[in-house]
Amino acid sequence: MTAGKGGANLPDLPRVVFSAQQIAGRVEELAAEISTAYGEEDRLLVLGLLKGSFIFMADLVRAITLPHQIDFLVASSYGQAKVSTGDVRLLYDPDSSMEGRAVLVVEDIVDSGTTLRTLLPRLQSRGPATLEVCALLHKRLEPLEREPRWVGFNAPNDFLVGYGLDYAEDFRHLPYIASL
Ligand code: IMP
Ligand code: MG
Repeated sequence: MTAGKGGANLPDLPRVVFSAQQIAGRVEELAAEISTAYGEEDRLLVLGLLKGSFIFMADLVRAITLPHQIDFLVASSYGQAKVSTGDVRLLYDPDSSMEGRAVLVVEDIVDSGTTLRTLLPRLQSRGPATLEVCALLHKRLEPLEREPRWVGFNAPNDFLVGYGLDYAEDFRHLPYIASL
Protein backbone atom coordinates (compact mmCIF):
# COMPACT_ATOMS: atom_id res chain seq x y z
CA MET A 1 0.00 0.00 0.00
CA THR A 2 1.14 3.54 -0.76
CA ALA A 3 0.04 6.67 1.06
CA GLY A 4 -2.15 8.73 -1.31
CA LYS A 5 -3.17 12.34 -1.01
CA GLY A 6 -5.25 13.00 2.07
CA GLY A 7 -3.55 10.04 3.70
CA ALA A 8 -5.70 7.47 1.87
CA ASN A 9 -4.01 4.12 1.31
CA LEU A 10 -3.82 3.36 -2.40
CA PRO A 11 -3.36 -0.24 -3.49
CA ASP A 12 -0.19 -0.76 -5.55
CA LEU A 13 -0.25 -1.97 -9.17
CA PRO A 14 -3.95 -2.06 -9.94
CA ARG A 15 -5.01 -4.74 -12.46
CA VAL A 16 -5.02 -3.33 -16.00
CA VAL A 17 -8.31 -3.97 -17.79
CA PHE A 18 -7.81 -1.74 -20.87
CA SER A 19 -4.31 -0.58 -21.82
CA ALA A 20 -3.51 2.91 -23.08
CA GLN A 21 -2.91 1.42 -26.53
CA GLN A 22 -6.27 -0.41 -26.58
CA ILE A 23 -8.06 2.77 -25.52
CA ALA A 24 -6.29 4.87 -28.18
CA GLY A 25 -7.30 2.43 -30.91
CA ARG A 26 -10.92 2.33 -29.83
CA VAL A 27 -11.13 6.13 -29.49
CA GLU A 28 -9.95 6.47 -33.11
CA GLU A 29 -12.72 4.09 -34.23
CA LEU A 30 -15.40 5.93 -32.27
CA ALA A 31 -14.25 9.30 -33.61
CA ALA A 32 -14.31 8.00 -37.19
CA GLU A 33 -17.89 6.73 -36.74
CA ILE A 34 -19.02 9.96 -35.10
CA SER A 35 -17.39 12.03 -37.86
CA THR A 36 -19.45 10.29 -40.53
CA ALA A 37 -22.69 10.11 -38.51
CA TYR A 38 -23.13 13.89 -38.49
CA GLY A 39 -22.87 16.65 -41.05
CA GLU A 40 -21.80 20.27 -40.66
CA GLU A 41 -25.44 21.34 -40.85
CA ASP A 42 -26.08 19.46 -37.58
CA ARG A 43 -23.94 22.00 -35.67
CA LEU A 44 -22.68 19.23 -33.42
CA LEU A 45 -22.23 20.05 -29.75
CA VAL A 46 -20.13 17.53 -27.83
CA LEU A 47 -21.08 17.70 -24.19
CA GLY A 48 -18.67 16.08 -21.74
CA LEU A 49 -19.92 14.88 -18.39
CA LEU A 50 -17.30 15.98 -15.85
CA LYS A 51 -15.14 15.05 -14.24
CA GLY A 52 -14.83 11.44 -15.40
CA SER A 53 -14.94 12.12 -19.14
CA PHE A 54 -12.20 14.75 -19.27
CA ILE A 55 -9.41 12.60 -20.73
CA PHE A 56 -11.74 10.66 -23.04
CA MET A 57 -13.23 13.96 -24.27
CA ALA A 58 -9.81 15.44 -24.97
CA ASP A 59 -8.76 12.42 -27.02
CA LEU A 60 -12.13 11.97 -28.76
CA VAL A 61 -12.70 15.55 -29.92
CA ARG A 62 -9.16 15.78 -31.31
CA ALA A 63 -9.92 12.75 -33.46
CA ILE A 64 -13.37 13.90 -34.69
CA THR A 65 -12.76 15.42 -38.10
CA LEU A 66 -16.12 17.24 -38.35
CA PRO A 67 -16.12 20.83 -37.04
CA HIS A 68 -17.99 20.94 -33.72
CA GLN A 69 -18.29 22.81 -30.45
CA ILE A 70 -17.56 21.60 -26.94
CA ASP A 71 -19.13 22.19 -23.57
CA PHE A 72 -19.28 20.33 -20.29
CA LEU A 73 -21.79 19.57 -17.64
CA VAL A 74 -21.13 18.54 -14.11
CA ALA A 75 -23.33 16.02 -12.38
CA SER A 76 -22.60 14.39 -9.09
CA SER A 77 -23.97 11.21 -7.61
CA TYR A 78 -21.21 9.15 -6.04
CA GLY A 79 -19.34 11.35 -3.60
CA GLN A 80 -16.95 9.14 -1.68
CA ALA A 81 -18.86 5.92 -2.34
CA LYS A 82 -18.36 3.10 -4.84
CA VAL A 83 -22.11 2.67 -5.26
CA SER A 84 -24.33 5.36 -6.78
CA THR A 85 -26.52 7.17 -4.27
CA GLY A 86 -29.16 7.55 -6.98
CA ASP A 87 -29.37 11.28 -6.22
CA VAL A 88 -27.97 12.98 -9.33
CA ARG A 89 -27.31 16.67 -8.85
CA LEU A 90 -26.51 18.99 -11.77
CA LEU A 91 -23.71 21.19 -10.44
CA TYR A 92 -22.98 23.02 -13.70
CA ASP A 93 -25.53 23.41 -16.43
CA PRO A 94 -24.01 24.36 -19.80
CA ASP A 95 -25.16 27.65 -21.26
CA SER A 96 -24.47 26.51 -24.86
CA SER A 97 -27.58 26.65 -27.01
CA MET A 98 -28.93 23.17 -27.78
CA GLU A 99 -32.00 24.24 -29.73
CA GLY A 100 -32.13 22.46 -33.10
CA ARG A 101 -28.57 21.10 -32.83
CA ALA A 102 -27.09 17.62 -32.65
CA VAL A 103 -26.02 17.07 -29.04
CA LEU A 104 -23.66 14.23 -28.20
CA VAL A 105 -23.18 13.52 -24.49
CA VAL A 106 -19.82 11.96 -23.63
CA GLU A 107 -19.84 9.80 -20.51
CA ASP A 108 -16.96 7.86 -18.94
CA ILE A 109 -18.89 4.82 -17.76
CA VAL A 110 -22.50 3.66 -17.60
CA ASP A 111 -23.07 1.71 -14.41
CA SER A 112 -26.62 1.69 -13.02
CA GLY A 113 -27.71 4.13 -15.75
CA THR A 114 -29.11 6.53 -13.15
CA THR A 115 -27.01 9.45 -14.36
CA LEU A 116 -28.21 9.14 -17.96
CA ARG A 117 -31.80 8.41 -16.92
CA THR A 118 -31.82 11.66 -14.98
CA LEU A 119 -29.83 13.88 -17.33
CA LEU A 120 -31.17 12.94 -20.75
CA PRO A 121 -34.75 14.17 -20.15
CA ARG A 122 -33.36 17.45 -18.80
CA LEU A 123 -31.21 17.93 -21.91
CA GLN A 124 -34.05 16.80 -24.19
CA SER A 125 -36.21 19.62 -22.78
CA ARG A 126 -33.72 22.10 -24.26
CA GLY A 127 -34.82 21.19 -27.77
CA PRO A 128 -31.84 19.50 -29.45
CA ALA A 129 -32.54 18.10 -32.93
CA THR A 130 -30.87 14.86 -31.85
CA LEU A 131 -29.53 13.70 -28.49
CA GLU A 132 -27.13 10.77 -28.40
CA VAL A 133 -24.61 9.34 -25.95
CA CYS A 134 -21.07 8.11 -26.45
CA ALA A 135 -19.88 6.16 -23.39
CA LEU A 136 -16.34 4.88 -23.13
CA LEU A 137 -17.40 2.00 -20.88
CA HIS A 138 -20.70 0.23 -20.25
CA LYS A 139 -21.24 -2.34 -17.52
CA ARG A 140 -24.50 -3.60 -19.14
CA LEU A 141 -26.06 -4.31 -15.76
CA GLU A 142 -29.59 -3.83 -17.04
CA PRO A 143 -31.11 -2.70 -20.35
CA LEU A 144 -31.67 1.06 -20.42
CA GLU A 145 -34.64 2.84 -21.92
CA ARG A 146 -32.14 4.89 -23.94
CA GLU A 147 -28.91 3.06 -24.70
CA PRO A 148 -25.79 4.98 -25.74
CA ARG A 149 -25.41 5.02 -29.52
CA TRP A 150 -21.65 4.53 -29.16
CA VAL A 151 -19.87 2.42 -26.55
CA GLY A 152 -16.11 2.03 -26.36
CA PHE A 153 -15.92 -1.19 -24.38
CA ASN A 154 -18.23 -3.46 -22.44
CA ALA A 155 -16.82 -3.34 -18.93
CA PRO A 156 -16.57 -6.02 -16.27
CA ASN A 157 -18.72 -5.42 -13.22
CA ASP A 158 -15.70 -4.26 -11.21
CA PHE A 159 -14.90 -0.83 -9.87
CA LEU A 160 -12.69 0.71 -12.57
CA VAL A 161 -10.26 3.61 -12.28
CA GLY A 162 -7.91 5.56 -14.52
CA TYR A 163 -8.21 7.46 -17.83
CA GLY A 164 -10.44 9.95 -15.99
CA LEU A 165 -12.27 7.53 -13.70
CA ASP A 166 -11.70 7.95 -10.00
CA TYR A 167 -12.16 6.32 -6.67
CA ALA A 168 -12.74 9.17 -4.19
CA GLU A 169 -10.81 11.47 -6.61
CA ASP A 170 -7.72 9.24 -6.79
CA PHE A 171 -6.40 7.42 -9.91
CA ARG A 172 -7.91 9.75 -12.56
CA HIS A 173 -4.48 10.44 -14.07
CA LEU A 174 -3.62 6.82 -14.92
CA PRO A 175 -3.21 6.48 -18.71
CA TYR A 176 -4.89 3.06 -18.63
CA ILE A 177 -8.05 1.61 -17.03
CA ALA A 178 -7.59 -0.72 -14.10
CA SER A 179 -9.77 -2.63 -11.69
CA LEU A 180 -9.35 -1.83 -8.01
P1 IMP B 1 -24.52 5.43 -13.05
O1 IMP B 1 -25.34 6.66 -12.80
O2 IMP B 1 -24.73 4.39 -11.99
O3 IMP B 1 -24.69 4.87 -14.43
O4 IMP B 1 -23.03 5.81 -12.86
C1 IMP B 1 -22.39 6.69 -13.72
C2 IMP B 1 -21.28 7.47 -13.04
O5 IMP B 1 -20.80 6.84 -11.86
C3 IMP B 1 -20.10 7.54 -13.96
O6 IMP B 1 -20.15 8.72 -14.74
C4 IMP B 1 -18.92 7.53 -13.03
O7 IMP B 1 -18.58 8.85 -12.63
C5 IMP B 1 -19.40 6.75 -11.82
N1 IMP B 1 -18.99 5.34 -11.89
C6 IMP B 1 -19.76 4.27 -12.14
N2 IMP B 1 -19.06 3.12 -12.14
C7 IMP B 1 -17.78 3.50 -11.89
C8 IMP B 1 -16.54 2.76 -11.80
O8 IMP B 1 -16.45 1.52 -11.95
N3 IMP B 1 -15.43 3.49 -11.53
C9 IMP B 1 -15.45 4.85 -11.39
N4 IMP B 1 -16.58 5.57 -11.48
C10 IMP B 1 -17.73 4.90 -11.73
MG1 MG C 1 -16.94 9.70 -10.72
